[in-house]
Amino acid sequence: MSATIIDGKQTSSEIRKEIASEVSELKKQGIQPGLAVVLVGDDPASHVYVKNKEKGCEETGIDSYKYERPTKMKEEELLALIDELNKDSKVNGILVQLPLPDHIDEHKVLMAIDPEKDVDGFHPINVGKLMVGNAVLVPCTPRGTIELLKRSGVEISGKNAVIVGRSNIVGKPVSMLLLQENATIEICHSRTKDLSEHTKRADILIAAIGKPRFITKDMVKDGAAVIDVGVNRLETGLCGDVDFDEVKEVASLITPVPGGVGPMTIAMLLKNTIIAATQQAKTN
Ligand code: GUN
Repeated sequence: MSATIIDGKQTSSEIRKEIASEVSELKKQGIQPGLAVVLVGDDPASHVYVKNKEKGCEETGIDSYKYERPTKMKEEELLALIDELNKDSKVNGILVQLPLPDHIDEHKVLMAIDPEKDVDGFHPINVGKLMVGNAVLVPCTPRGTIELLKRSGVEISGKNAVIVGRSNIVGKPVSMLLLQENATIEICHSRTKDLSEHTKRADILIAAIGKPRFITKDMVKDGAAVIDVGVNRLETGLCGDVDFDEVKEVASLITPVPGGVGPMTIAMLLKNTIIAATQQAKTN
């Protein structure tokens, strides 16, 4: 048996079309959504991500504002820029591309973003809302993962979901979302003993570890839905955290890298931007 390959590019293109029509409805009500993206330094991968975010905005009718700053930018200058964007009514969403240079305190920067404009969902206020189950702005990659499962017809309720990786960007928030969808969750990480004992119980397996082709066939249950969130840059090109060629032989559904979760992240960022714009129009 060979797994169905989930086409994240296709799904994200459908979602972007839906977003474009939502944006044109908002425009009729006098609401023009705007997203500010801040990029500090010259990390090549970050530049690619930011370019794709701009393209997504253009395609859906969202205004985008890009702020590129040199690696040597001082923390206080970045905080001042965020303060300015917090006050700018044209800007509904603020995204500071991570990672930041070492001399800048990431936590302090994320804390400075107005939670209502925090389209990454990384501010502790939004993290807390996710935990208690009334989140409005949910981190983009986790949200994209759930959307991909749902749109691929995967039943989540009552299933065993095993998440490998406990990052604030993916592992922890995707676990909360799966729990909200009534999955039984297990969060595994680098100190987990007998990892494959856990992963083999997964009906839904989420790989978010950051190690190329780490999840092998022997770690996956027959018929599992496998979502690969890894983005590893090798000399031979991009690869995920799942050994795709091997695991597709046992899984029922699998996402490729590239072309799986990646394009969904951008679509969810655009979605969060229009959610933020709609909320702000109500309260301001
Ligand atoms: N760098 C890698 N992933 C992300 C993300 O989801 N948001 C931001 N801001 N930076 C990232």
